[in-house]
This record gives sequence, C-alpha cells and structure tokens, in this order.
Amino acid sequence: MTQAADSRVAHLPTTQYFCPSGDYDEMWRRADQDPEGFWGEQAMDLDWFKRWDKVLDWKVPYARWFVGGKLNLSYQCLDRHMKTEVKNKVAFHWEGELGDTQVLTYAELYRLTNNYAAALKRLGVKRGDRVALYLPMIPALPIFMLACARIGAIFTVVFSAFSGQALADRVEDVEAKIIVTSSGMHRRGKILPLKDNAVEAAKKCPCVEKIVVVKHTGHNVEMDPARDVWLNDLLAGCDEYVEPEHMDSNDPLFVLYTSGSTGKPKGILHGTGGYSLWIAKTMQWAFNTDKKTVWWCTADIGWITGHSYVVFAPLELGLTSVMYEGAPDYPTLDRWWQIIAKYGVTILYTSPTAIRMFMRHGEEWPAKHDLSSLRILGSVGEPINPEAWLWYYRNIGHERIGISDTWWQTETGGFMISPTPGIQPHFLKPGSATKPMPGIVPAVLDAEGKELPNGETGFIVIKKPWPGMLLDIYHNPELYQKTYWSRFPGYYLPGDYCMKDQDNFLWLLGRADEVIKVAGHRISTAELESAIVGHSAVAEAAATSRPDEIKGEAIIMFVTLRKGTPPSVEIKNELTRHLRATIGTLATPEEIFFVNLLPKTRSGKIMRRLLKAVATGATIGDTSTLDDGASVDEAKAAFAELSAGSHHYKSGERNPETKPMP
Ligand code: WT7
Repeated sequence: MTQAADSRVAHLPTTQYFCPSGDYDEMWRRADQDPEGFWGEQAMDLDWFKRWDKVLDWKVPYARWFVGGKLNLSYQCLDRHMKTEVKNKVAFHWEGELGDTQVLTYAELYRLTNNYAAALKRLGVKRGDRVALYLPMIPALPIFMLACARIGAIFTVVFSAFSGQALADRVEDVEAKIIVTSSGMHRRGKILPLKDNAVEAAKKCPCVEKIVVVKHTGHNVEMDPARDVWLNDLLAGCDEYVEPEHMDSNDPLFVLYTSGSTGKPKGILHGTGGYSLWIAKTMQWAFNTDKKTVWWCTADIGWITGHSYVVFAPLELGLTSVMYEGAPDYPTLDRWWQIIAKYGVTILYTSPTAIRMFMRHGEEWPAKHDLSSLRILGSVGEPINPEAWLWYYRNIGHERIGISDTWWQTETGGFMISPTPGIQPHFLKPGSATKPMPGIVPAVLDAEGKELPNGETGFIVIKKPWPGMLLDIYHNPELYQKTYWSRFPGYYLPGDYCMKDQDNFLWLLGRADEVIKVAGHRISTAELESAIVGHSAVAEAAATSRPDEIKGEAIIMFVTLRKGTPPSVEIKNELTRHLRATIGTLATPEEIFFVNLLPKTRSGKIMRRLLKAVATGATIGDTSTLDDGASVDEAKAAFAELSAGSHHYKSGERNPETKPMP
C-alpha cells in the first residue's frame, strides 16, 4: 500500500490556486503552541451572551471549550444578522425535485425559526428535551434545527432514507418526545411515504407524544388526531418572537447517529460553543468564503456534512446557499449543472461517488452549461481517487480552480485535514487532503503506537483536542472511551489509515476498522450482520465489502441458512428486502453468498480477510497477512470450502434454476 501511494505522489501533477494572503505555517504553529490564546482570539468573532471564564478544560478524554461562556447558535445564525445588510440577503435558494422553488431571506428564516420555536414550546418541548427530525431536504428541516437550537432542545436528524425500524432505534435511544416528519418525499419522480415510517416508529417508542407533519406531497395521509398534528395547524397563532435560550458553551446541541464497530449506531453528541466556532472557521479556511459566495453543499442534512455545512456554518457566515431536494440525475443528467448556472454557484462541495457517477455518464452533460461562476470545488465523504479528482478538476473546474478535499468525520464536527485557500494558497496533489487545519495535530502510528516515518502507512491519530470535537457518545461514556481513546491512550483515534508523504501531505486511505463506506455513507459490518440474522431463515452471517467503481465500496454478505431453506434468488431477494426494511436503502447488498459454514479460527473469530478475498475474487495468496490468528492451513481449507461450496447471487440477478412461468 505504501509503495502504491508513493508512486501516486510522485507521478501526479500539482496545481496552485489564488487566495488572500495569510501565513498557514505561522497560524498552524501558533494554534499548536498556544491553543488557548489562539482559540480565545478566534472565538471573539462569535456573539456571546456571556464571555467564557476558561478557553479549554482538557481532561482526557473530555475537552470542554469556552467554559462558562453562554451563547445560542440560532442567534449566531440569525439574530445578529438582523442588524446588518445580511438581513435581506438570500439565505437559501431552495429547489424541489419537481422544479418548484422557494427563496428564503435571512429575515424570513428568522421569522419562521421564531414561529417554529413557539410551536415546539406549545407542544411542551423544553430545554434539554429531545426532538427527532425525520424530513427530506425541504426548508422545514433547517428551520426546525434552528428552532430546536433556539429553545435549547436537543435534536436528532434521521436521514430520510432510513427505514421506520432504523428511525425507531434512534428515537428510542435518544428518548425523543416529538417526531417531526413530512407527508412524504419526492425521489426520482416517486413519492416515498415518510409519515408511515414515522407512525411505525412512534408505535414502537412509548416516549413519542406527538408527530408533527409537514405537508409536502399531495397524497392522502391518515392522521390520528390524538397523536398527529399538521405543522400548519400548529403554527396558527405562533407568530411571535421567542427569546433564545442562553446555552452554556458545553450544553449539548444535537445527537447524530453513526455506525461504528458495534451492531447499534452510536449517538455522537455535539456541543454548542466549540462546535459553532469550529465549523464557521474551518469553512472560511477551506473555501475562502466571502460576501459574494453562493455556496452549494450537495450533502443531505441527515449527515454531519449537512448539519455543519448546509445549515449552520453558511448561516453563521451570512452566506447565500443553494438547497436541492432531489436526485442528481433527475429528470436529466445535467440537473446539477443547470442549478449551478441558474443560481451562479461559486463553490460546489460534493462527494467522490457523485463525481464518479457523472464521470461515467460523460463530460458532455456539464459541458452544456455555463459553469464559469465556480471559484472553488470541494470533495468529502470517502477517499477521492486521483482519476476522479482530475476529471472534476478538468470538466467542472476547467483547470482554473482548486479542489478542497476535506477529510473529517461525524465525530470531528468539521473539517480536520484540507487545503486552506482561505488562509494561504498551497500546492495540491490529486487524491490527498493535504494539510491539517490550524489546531489539528495529527500523527501516523504503527500497531504498537510508534510514530511512523514519512512514506509509511499506519493509523492516523489526533494528538490534541480541537473545538469541534464530540462531547461524548450519548449516554454511553464507556463506548466513547473505548472507541476513540483506548488503543492509543491520550490520542483521538479516527479509525482511518493514513500516509504522510515526503512533503508532509496527508493521504487518507480508507477505514482501518469494520466500517464500510457505501457512497460515502457509513455502515458497520456488525450492524448489517445483526440485521440479517434477525430474519428467521438465517443462522449466521458476516458482512464485508468490495471496491466499487462508483460507490467506493459495495456490501457483500456471507450467509448460512437454517435447515429447510435452500439458497435461491427468492430468499436472496427476501433478505435484501429485510435489510432495507430494518436499516434502509443504503444497506442493500451487492451480492449475497450462501455458504455451509462461515470460516472461523479455532477461537471462533470470523476470518474476515478471507471473506474479503473471496468477495473481491482475490486468491488465497493475498490472505497471507491474516491478522485474525488463523493458521495458513486453516485459511486454505476454509477458502477451498468457500470457493467450492457457495451459491452467490448478485443484486438484480435472476435465479438460473427457476424456469420462467409459461
Ligand atoms: C469517514 C467519516 C466527513 C463527513 C462525511 C462523512 C471517510 C470522509 C474523507 C476524505 C478520505 C474520507 C473517512 C472518515 N472520509 N472524508 N476527504 N478523504 N476519507 O462522515 O460518515 O462520519 O464518515 O469518512 O473514512 O473516517 P462520516
């Protein structure tokens, strides 16, 4: 791996782009040597109701920033702009999949946020209560997030493609009083019944008192008057100002569930002061934003990217954003490029999966549109392969603008490693996220925790706390400690492989743990396994992945069936349906292998490397580095058994044994 990465570094072109002057090295050193001084100065840019007493209280593994300070994020995003020219600026140009549009100025967003906050209060939501937001990409979603922040309610956004069961798991864990949903959502011309999923979740979770429904689709929706309320009815008489709660800097702001090594998603808990500062500063540094910026982050708000960089940071900075409801290729493959030309987007921030999809469909689609408004491009979610980077650079950026490849995580709140054109221009290398943000001190370690020399691949760790760092895992401090702080004590462990090259550029090389990235979405093998064994026909299962040209990785599952159920396309389809109903569409396996036995070591551990080798069509030779304690003979025997005795079915494949109906 090291060698391959090295040759990439040596052979790929570099580019430079224009930016204001600042001294990146100097700023990074200052933040490293005097973090309290540095962050204390940066934090003066926020509006505090009360100044902090102490910039940082760091007792491993808990960092508490701006201790004693009081603020409110909805105030940062809205109220303070009411005294400036930002007041009448467009906050969001929203566009629906059907082509309908809505323009929200800062003044309008401020008014609506107050009204929604009043409505939540009327439902009895108080500071510290939890509210689940299960909504598509419509204006009501950011407005509800701002309204919750305003009254100090902790929100949890659940991605709209998650199933009713997945919603229930999250609602139950966070003990939400309210679920906010919409009648349905538009996706590639279809209407998906979100409200039905919310009802399924509410029935499973006694904590839920009310479902608030935003009318978004025309279809008929059944309402239970005791539990369900239309947003419009609730808003009647709520036209009032709501005083923003004075939140403590370390009060929780939201919980966002993400996959880790366990079968259940963990609730990443973010705070108020440090998070608000971190996302605004990193956005400015990575994208050199200014008053004229028209920002478009294509991520769904259901992920951290959307929380930090669709909703909060752009509003804190008073920027104009585009928000689009639908699929990138609907109704035609140039929908995105049309949107960029229409609104004069100056920064596009998207994912390698999207870029690779457009790449496959050809450069004639972007070529049809005027993309000259673009000033910077961004990428996030998974490693970007140099080929996709160069395609993006040439066909979208027309070789005149740079790409900020931002490496970060749900847990980090905001960008960690990225080019910083907002501080100082530097060279880029296609496929490298380049350098750490000021305040981020990374290192690359071997399995024993020894720092590796440049050029070698190991685990990335972050040696010091930063303001956007998660507060905790929601009511699971043991898991927090174990996941991030136990392997290399005192250092934060993100779980990615990394290599630092001879120029100190960082190359993030994918997950080092059992987390799969499907189209940039995080899902753990344990979660897939525990979902599929919930089906009565399944005895045992193991999940792995295979590289996928577009989605980065594709899910491959190995399943042993219970007696009486022979392998067939029908059972494969049934299990696929079961996974989608339990988790959501992102859990769709690319292929299922039915095997007689899962390969295990004497101590009962699944030989995951071996499964990966079978899934990727590699040979047994490639498994010589089995790290799970299996002997080579054991592995060989298991490999032979697997290769010979398995039935496998690809997604969409028809059963060769099944004759067509006459
Ligand atoms: C994981 C975090 C970051 C917000 C969206 C995903 C991978 C993310 C990059 C990048 C290489 C990347 C990592 C990371 N990742 N961005 N620019 N280059 N890998 O957030 O769901 O918390 O996933 O995504 O593996 O650990 P997430």
